[in-house]
Amino acid sequence: MTRDPARAAPATLPEGVVSLADHERHSALLLDEAAQAYFNGGAADEITLRANIAAWQRVELLPRVMRRLEGGHTRVDLLGRTLAHPILVAPMAYQRLAHPQGEQATALAAATLGAGLVLSTQATALLEDVARLVLPEPMRGPLWFQLYLLPDRAFMRELIHRVEAAGFEALVLTVDAPVQGARDRERRAGFRRPADVTAVNLAARLAPKPLVLQSGQSALFDDLLTHAPTWDDLGWLRSITHLPILLKGVVHPDDGREAVAQGAAGLIVSNHGGRTLDTMPATATLLPPMVQAVQGAVPVLVDGGIRRGTDVLKAVALGASAVLVGRPVLHGLANAGAVGVAHVLRLLRDELEIAMALSGCRTLADAPGALAPVGR
Ligand SMILES: Cc1cc2nc3c(=O)[nH]c(=O)nc-3n(C[C@H](O)[C@H](O)[C@H](O)COP(=O)(O)O)c2cc1C
Repeated sequence: MTRDPARAAPATLPEGVVSLADHERHSALLLDEAAQAYFNGGAADEITLRANIAAWQRVELLPRVMRRLEGGHTRVDLLGRTLAHPILVAPMAYQRLAHPQGEQATALAAATLGAGLVLSTQATALLEDVARLVLPEPMRGPLWFQLYLLPDRAFMRELIHRVEAAGFEALVLTVDAPVQGARDRERRAGFRRPADVTAVNLAARLAPKPLVLQSGQSALFDDLLTHAPTWDDLGWLRSITHLPILLKGVVHPDDGREAVAQGAAGLIVSNHGGRTLDTMPATATLLPPMVQAVQGAVPVLVDGGIRRGTDVLKAVALGASAVLVGRPVLHGLANAGAVGVAHVLRLLRDELEIAMALSGCRTLADAPGALAPVGR
């Protein structure tokens, strides 16, 4: 069970939903407890989940006044393209749990609003169908495909060829989730993915070999983690694709430097929205040292807890080329399908423009000057 059947999703939003927090509250009226736990929950005590949001709130803005702002805009350059604004939709699995149109509704909304889209490996829509929706839209943002490394290399190769043929412009290799975090909220609520909500792009892969462990062996270290991504795998991926590869979930500055040395095209500073290793620092805290470490060699993006246009401005001020937004997109999707996602993205973009105008930023190049000294 995902959506409460007695309360089917309306195609329009009720009045009074004017912020991302309102979207979250409204989605709670439409989704059952287990689905909410899957979407909104984090790992263990959810310390990182809460820290992500609190850390952006703690960064302070100190506006400059009486500046000329005409001709201002939110455009940014990223991997050879100019984007209308620096907001992308984060990769999120199983979006048909939120709405019957799932990733297709999200994709349509993102493309129309000029937001980038990162499609999850575990999407419930065919990657070719999503690309067909996004690519013709003239105002669209970048279209990227997120990868989890799978042990079946022949299948991976085939999948990546499909991704290339469909017109995706980059791969995002997620490196921070070789196993799932201990997601207590989800387990407490008894979340089970319905049998008809599946990762359709993985349908053709070989079934994993049944696990046979000797006594004293660990299911984690002796089975699952033998497939966890390594730096060698990045080399292998680079050898089989012409697409740029960004790494998602790199947080230690030394790993950032290594990633640049190993040919990553970009980094996404992420703690998986607090869903993997609890008690990791907030991403607002992790971002500046990473920006410092890579010295502009590749773009650094960030996600986790972005809930306001001011958060987007702060992320850019701290050196991010762009941000990814996760759960609020799922809330918008649950609330009103594509209309709901479009509303979430529109709110963020409008709030970003307001924040820029009120802090004296004509363009995002001015953003660092809007940070209060303590945040610099
Ligand atoms: C329900 C859900 C599913 C997710 N699935 C994936 C996934 O398939 N691949 C991935 O790299 N990250 C996944 N993530 C993590 C997001 O890409 C992103 O890092 C995180 O949600 C950002 O934090 P935010 O939700 O606070 O904005 C998922 C997050 C959520 C909430």
